[in-house]
Amino acid sequence: MRDITIVRLIPDSDHVDTVASWTFAEWGHLHPGSTADSYREAFRRECGEGGVPSVFVAMHGNRPVGTAALLAEDMDSRPELTPWLASVFVLPEWRGQGIAARLIRRVEEEAVDSGFSQFYLYTPDQQGLYRRLGWQELEELSYRGEAVTIMLRQLEA
Ligand SMILES: CC(C)(COP(=O)(O)OP(=O)(O)OC[C@H]1O[C@@H](n2cnc3c(N)ncnc32)[C@H](O)[C@@H]1OP(=O)(O)O)[C@@H](O)C(=O)NCCC(=O)NCCS
Repeated sequence: MRDITIVRLIPDSDHVDTVASWTFAEWGHLHPGSTADSYREAFRRECGEGGVPSVFVAMHGNRPVGTAALLAEDMDSRPELTPWLASVFVLPEWRGQGIAARLIRRVEEEAVDSGFSQFYLYTPDQQGLYRRLGWQELEELSYRGEAVTIMLRQLEA
């Protein structure tokens, strides 16, 4: 893989706008009523100092090329499930090189270090990727008009 490092995205990073614009373009429709500005400020609050919430970015030099987050909540119809792997995104020209896998591993480490023994995600179409990374299907449901699968990852300390 071309030189990629995985780092924490801190709230006052210059890269917050860039990364928020990716995830707003991809998932903004799941946040009805959000504008690009309100979404970006909510995203900035998800960039915690450590633990839950946290956002990580894959960097190529000084350029972010991918992201993944650890959030307390990601599905308002399942408030009992926490925490969540969320917002896994890699720029199209950087896909297929294992960058998402590295971001997901980093989020898993953060969840373990925060004392969690399991965590969750939901996906409409990436079940295969997550299955290969040790996730298992928990439930299929319709969420905000889309058929999705909730998946579970058992974590080992
Ligand atoms: C889904 C997504 C995050 C995957 O990112 P990625 O960096 O390409 O993922 P990875 O490279 O870690 O794994 C993807 C594939 O590349 C393969 N791969 C991993 N390392 C590789 C390498 N060094 N060389 C070639 N292929 C590799 C993986 O086996 C995997 O195979 P698959 O296509 O059969 O699943 C990316 O396609 C994306 O951003 N999609 C849009 C947003 C989205 O759907 N996010 C997930 C929401 S749940």
